[in-house]
Amino acid sequence: MKIFLDTANIDEIKTAADWGVLDGLTTNPSLVAKENRKFEELVPEIMQICKGPVSLEVVATDAEGMVAEADKLVEYGPNVVIKIPMIPEGLKAIRRLSQKEIATNCTLVFNATQALLAAKAGATYVSPFIGRLDDIGHIGMELIDQIVTIFDNYAFGTEVLAASLRHPQHVLEAALAGADVSTVPFGTLKKIMKHPLTDNGLDKFLADWEKVPK
Ligand code: E4P
Repeated sequence: MKIFLDTANIDEIKTAADWGVLDGLTTNPSLVAKENRKFEELVPEIMQICKGPVSLEVVATDAEGMVAEADKLVEYGPNVVIKIPMIPEGLKAIRRLSQKEIATNCTLVFNATQALLAAKAGATYVSPFIGRLDDIGHIGMELIDQIVTIFDNYAFGTEVLAASLRHPQHVLEAALAGADVSTVPFGTLKKIMKHPLTDNGLDKFLADWEKVPK
């Protein structure tokens, strides 16, 4: 499973890249707004650091406008993926962009039939939002199981990108369910590499090493 970082924060992206675990990146308008910087200045910096797929989201809500935005966004680099909302105009735009061989990430997916439509339209990735489903009392992770099964049944090449993951358990379950990608906030990435027994074990090894005659 690939690990993408779900952020537009340069320090977080640099740190994950240094750790060698940055397969790609997802952003959205809310994450970009948090940085309080001009989009045109922020994105080139992101592209300098992240060489894997970088999802940049359109804000137009009509297919024409989405495709026009996509044509500009791809100028930021060959690894740009155009993030398009799962609405009828979005499907139209995904179809047009896939015909132009521009990679797309269909976002705001909340049921498996939406994912099926996105795949049929030619999306490169679909982004089911797990945490937001949990927030309203659903079992978000069931969606990953369903989409993985449907895509396997019909041999769709579209990748399942588990999104809105809020904690390590989500990442574990997404991996067990066969998600192709998990996109995680920086805080979750830090948590998944931490284990108290690793830290305690290392402390003990280092303390014992001091006892070895030098
Ligand atoms: C993914 O593509 C989205 O940007 C993100 O995972 C949404 O997460 P949230 O529901 O925690 O805002």
